[in-house]
Amino acid sequence: MKEYFKVDEWKIIEEGFDPHYNMVAESVFSLGNGRMGQRANFEEAYSGETLQGNYVAGVYYPDKTRVGWWKNGYPEYFAKVLNAANWIGIDIWVDDEQLDLAKCDVLSFRRELNMKEGYLQRNFRAKTASGKEVEVEAIRFCSMVDDEAGVIKYSITPINFESEITITPFIDGDIMNKDSNYDEKFWDEVSKAIDADNGYVQLRTKKTGFEVATAMKFTIEQDGKPLETKSNPIQKKKYIAAEIKLQAKQGQDITLTKYAVNVSSQNYSAADLVARSTDVLATISAKGFDTMLAEQAAAWAEKWKHNDIIIEGDAAAQQGIRFNIFQLNQTYTGEDDRLNIGPKGFTGEKYGGSTYWDTEAYCVPFYLATAEQKVARNLLLYRYKQLGKAIDNAKLLGFKDGAALYPMVTMDGTECHNEWEITFEEIHRNGAIGFAIFNYVRYTGDEAYLTDYGLEVLIAISRFWAQRITWSAERQQYVMLGVTGPNEYENNVNNNWYTSTIAVWCLKYTLEVIGKMKQANQPKYNDLTVKITFKEEQECERFADIIGKMYFPHDDRLQIFLQQDGYLDKEQILVKDLPASERPLVQKWSWDRILRSVYIKQADVLQGLYFFEDNYDIDTIRRNYDFYEPRTVHESSLSPCVHAILAAKLGDIDRAYQFYLRTSRLDIDDYNNDTEDGCHITSMAGTWMSVVEGFGGMRVKDGVLSFNPLLPHQWRAFSFQVGFRGALLNVRVSGDGVSIKNTSAQNIAVKVYDASHAINAGSEALIKSNSAS
Ligand code: BGC
Repeated sequence: MKEYFKVDEWKIIEEGFDPHYNMVAESVFSLGNGRMGQRANFEEAYSGETLQGNYVAGVYYPDKTRVGWWKNGYPEYFAKVLNAANWIGIDIWVDDEQLDLAKCDVLSFRRELNMKEGYLQRNFRAKTASGKEVEVEAIRFCSMVDDEAGVIKYSITPINFESEITITPFIDGDIMNKDSNYDEKFWDEVSKAIDADNGYVQLRTKKTGFEVATAMKFTIEQDGKPLETKSNPIQKKKYIAAEIKLQAKQGQDITLTKYAVNVSSQNYSAADLVARSTDVLATISAKGFDTMLAEQAAAWAEKWKHNDIIIEGDAAAQQGIRFNIFQLNQTYTGEDDRLNIGPKGFTGEKYGGSTYWDTEAYCVPFYLATAEQKVARNLLLYRYKQLGKAIDNAKLLGFKDGAALYPMVTMDGTECHNEWEITFEEIHRNGAIGFAIFNYVRYTGDEAYLTDYGLEVLIAISRFWAQRITWSAERQQYVMLGVTGPNEYENNVNNNWYTSTIAVWCLKYTLEVIGKMKQANQPKYNDLTVKITFKEEQECERFADIIGKMYFPHDDRLQIFLQQDGYLDKEQILVKDLPASERPLVQKWSWDRILRSVYIKQADVLQGLYFFEDNYDIDTIRRNYDFYEPRTVHESSLSPCVHAILAAKLGDIDRAYQFYLRTSRLDIDDYNNDTEDGCHITSMAGTWMSVVEGFGGMRVKDGVLSFNPLLPHQWRAFSFQVGFRGALLNVRVSGDGVSIKNTSAQNIAVKVYDASHAINAGSEALIKSNSAS
């Protein structure tokens, strides 16, 4: 764990420049607005280590999969979000020396992410090889209001010289993905133009044919006065620039304001993109930088009003949670149901920007409680719309009769992962998709979703499970062979407890929803059975038979569920006995050694106990927690949050706090040594869960919202906001007890420590710890 960034409740601050940490900082300081995003690359040239990243949501490329020995069932393509045209670039030359921090003496450096108002600021003073000192201030953001736009204000001041400075704002589409499987460039040029103060490049992706126009317009001032200086237009392959030569005066700043726009053929016809980009540029440049920044701050203030979590008395914990909430809001706004949440969001290429089970298992709860209902519903509809492809995907693997296997990794519904051996058999993702439907309906009460869409998905998923299990004549039970559980540090195992548990849960829930739908709307149910050729009697009988005869591995001596058959054969050395120098295992050990080891990458049995806690008594949860936690290395970002929630449930507040810090500061402190690839965006929703479900003990049962809060010793108080069925609540937990303020016009009754409290619109209830008022 590193402590590179300064602790501040509303900011992430880097003081001093450490090139070895630049890629981590580029990830942590990433910006986005749901529609586009970028890593915190420098505007000026940088020849040191960097990962360039500009991304346009939903624009991807199916790169041909790279495998040694091709086998039937491998996905042909690995879809990846594309590194798109670089719109931030501003090249600076002082006489014949290019400004490049890798080649300068960096005299001072400060970078600050202002999470309250949503912008990135960088100030530095640098000395070139010939001794010329410049001071630079750069502020930029991706606008939350004009979500196709970004803007940069870049000021440079000569400190100890007067000479010619050349400033060249540019757009460069001649870029590539670092993870390109065949070192291919994925964009072709369509057109480009450059004028005195504006220009654009329009590119088209190979294969997928997405078109994106990236356009810029700029103004320039010297010492606060607009300059009329002529620019020299430059055009190269997929590149436009405007070179401006100025006589720089000592102590006088030169300020370039660069407005930029990304518009894509997902939203307009390709032929209209240039006109649309010109319109957006006109709108934002007419507003000007200061107005745009004020609007940005106001848009963020509105977000924080509904999302903020306040932790009193622990600045590091406060910074951690705000960073997570900030990044989630930058990644996905829920405006567009074609989009989803890539595990790295707009902060890196890893995981290709694709959709994983992370969305259903981790992100849905966050959006359910902090955004309008339609946002979580859109996430569910995304999968509903891909049901046909999930059925095709299952067909390719030999399943039939409408069985659906959702992809582990997808952009458009087609399976597109690159890591066959690991992810292919992680069929548990199908269960998470079923669970998200349950979770959404449990939270919102929107039963109509089940009749309109949910049941169709549930039946298709259940059909898959019913075909995927095997009857074991030996055991006289059903078994689930050849799977990988959430713990990817063991592949192709038999009878992974979590997978079998969620499979059986899906079958039960499907039967329950069938029963409900027949009562609520028999004609609609009949239509559905015809649409999907559902043979009710026969198929339900099969589901029920599996439910009654499924085998779940269990150790009777230890009284625990077994992660999978044979888990106890492994050498049982606990994580605490592993030398720190050997971790993270994935970077230090061979894959062979990892697969044989007892070490668990992320919550697996415990993930099941978290989802289905009501089915197990507290002692069972405790025994399993006590057994599995000491064997878990948390090398998946999705792990600590589940452990935090369970630890809090078990009353182990100290461990819950440690897990909370780990999940919330995972990227800020680079716990897993991998933040340079990008931030762990989907696990950030897990961080939110660890506060609200962990310390807040929030649950929903039978349509009632309940809280069972615990206050970590390190905190004076904490508070969070949740929306529930039209009511908006502010919950504050302190040493004095729990106060719940209903800030909406909707009355609500909630449970706190098991006692019911009516909290009418606009009123507040104060409840002493562990006692009803
Ligand atoms: C985890 C998976 C997860 C993926 C994307 C992997 O490291 O093991 O569970 O879906 O990352 O976040």
